Amino acid sequence: MTAALFGTGLLGGAIAQRLLQYGQELWVWNRSPDRCQPLQALGAQQALRPLEAAQQAPWLITVLSDGPSTRELLLEQINGGLRGRTVIQMGTIGPDESRELAEAVAQRGGRYLEAPVLGSKPEALAGSLQLMAGGPKELYAQALPLLSQLSATPVHLGEVGTAMAAKLALNQLIASLTHAFSLSLHLVQRSGVEVEAFMDLLRSSALYAPTFDKKLERELKGDYSNPNFPTAHLRKDLALFQAAAQATGLDNQGLEGLLELLENATQAGLDPLDYCALHALTAGHTAAAKQP
Ligand SMILES: NC(=O)c1ccc[n+]([C@@H]2O[C@H](COP(=O)([O-])OP(=O)(O)OC[C@H]3O[C@@H](n4cnc5c(N)ncnc54)[C@H](OP(=O)(O)O)[C@@H]3O)[C@@H](O)[C@H]2O)c1
Repeated sequence: MTAALFGTGLLGGAIAQRLLQYGQELWVWNRSPDRCQPLQALGAQQALRPLEAAQQAPWLITVLSDGPSTRELLLEQINGGLRGRTVIQMGTIGPDESRELAEAVAQRGGRYLEAPVLGSKPEALAGSLQLMAGGPKELYAQALPLLSQLSATPVHLGEVGTAMAAKLALNQLIASLTHAFSLSLHLVQRSGVEVEAFMDLLRSSALYAPTFDKKLERELKGDYSNPNFPTAHLRKDLALFQAAAQATGLDNQGLEGLLELLENATQAGLDPLDYCALHALTAGHTAAAKQP
């Protein structure tokens, strides 16, 4: 199963590394070619153009930032090279974007499976991503030998669009839980409550989520460097969730403020940092907080 992987960023680079460690024959392409160098050292073959990579492999794995960049790669840069190829689309995009891509790939003689994941660089390197697939069941079965190298527990959820909807549902929880915890943490600190005493209460309650402790130290130190998942992508995913929720008629107005808050990340220089930099945004104005 020779594969070609497009987009060797944080997640794509780790997925490629994992596949190479499994002895997978792998071509890689990235817009900024330098990012492929560590993978070449592990045995990957680097393509200078997307079409060149697509000509070498029946399986095309995409891990680009978003829907528009994935669309441009597949439908403009590879385009006719999709004939006879199977696309495994792993980047997080909207369910509608995914369905449109599936249709356009089929029109070009290719096949399409969406396979978004929960988990980040460490899980990708360990092969313990939580992988959800959407697309024809027989195609999923054919892709399983590849997918199983990345996830011990891959699941097929249904048609194209279902896995992206599930992924957005999970990422909405990442955004909401991080936001909720961040506000509570700030309030207890500003009220003179010992953080550990608060955490003890929280940990022994039904409200506790492991992600709180996972991010606590970073938030207390204000250290959002070395991200596994950048703030800009969390904002993108919340915006995609909002669009999908609206399309299904949900009343999602409660999330509008959170999305607006995340939009401030760009000006604050937080976009490339770890998503728990949301904690810097909820800090608001310290002076105002000190007023009685
Ligand atoms: N990181 C995670 O923990 C995680 C987890 C689950 C899902 N995801 C999803 O996986 C996808 C990739 O995330 P990431 O964290 O790996 O992001 P990243 O580190 O920012 O990498 C983004 C990748 O997309 C490429 N790219 C962006 N715009 C492009 C364009 N217009 N044309 C061609 N290539 C373009 C980048 O190329 P350059 O190197 O040239 O910029 C890079 O390879 C996103 O959809 C994200 O939501 C990420």
